Amino acid sequence: MSPACEHVVLVGLMGVGKSTVGARLSEVLGWPLVDSDEQVEAATGRTVREIFERDGEAVFRAFEARALADALDAPGPSIVAAAGGVVLAEENRRRLKAPKIEVVWLRADATTVAARAAEGVHRPLLADDPVGVLARMAVEREPLYREVADHVVSVDGRSVEEVTGAVLEVVEAC
Ligand code: S3P
Repeated sequence: MSPACEHVVLVGLMGVGKSTVGARLSEVLGWPLVDSDEQVEAATGRTVREIFERDGEAVFRAFEARALADALDAPGPSIVAAAGGVVLAEENRRRLKAPKIEVVWLRADATTVAARAAEGVHRPLLADDPVGVLARMAVEREPLYREVADHVVSVDGRSVEEVTGAVLEVVEAC
């Protein structure tokens, strides 16, 4: 990868493996991993769930936008595991489309990721209907992931190693 590629950003629905694949990419490339939800928790001293429950989604989205902006403004290279909802705000999408930012959409069928996504305590939006919520999110967000993505990598039926290899292949030329 050339220095023209400053940050590789993984986007996609909850449970597609952004943090796990991001950690593997970080090991293989020797680049630091910046995980959006972890950044929000470190910056606020509160968990994602606490922010949602006490302050509501709008406040969380503002922290999420800050975390993305900080990650993309930092000197590269880095791997950024962006939170699933990052594409909802137009300003975030504008930032993701900037030059030197290589965005990879980890695409999954909502039903295949629902069980895994439901395990995360930091995902209050899933409540007690992960399959239904993720299916609705997929409809709303797929056009937005597509809008920002330089590459699309399918994760359905693939191991972490396979997805990591596929991401490395697509970002190699960046
Ligand atoms: C969210 C995704 C979560 C977390 C929050 C909201 C979303 O992050 O930021 O629960 O709206 O898609 P992950 O995508 O890392 O699970």
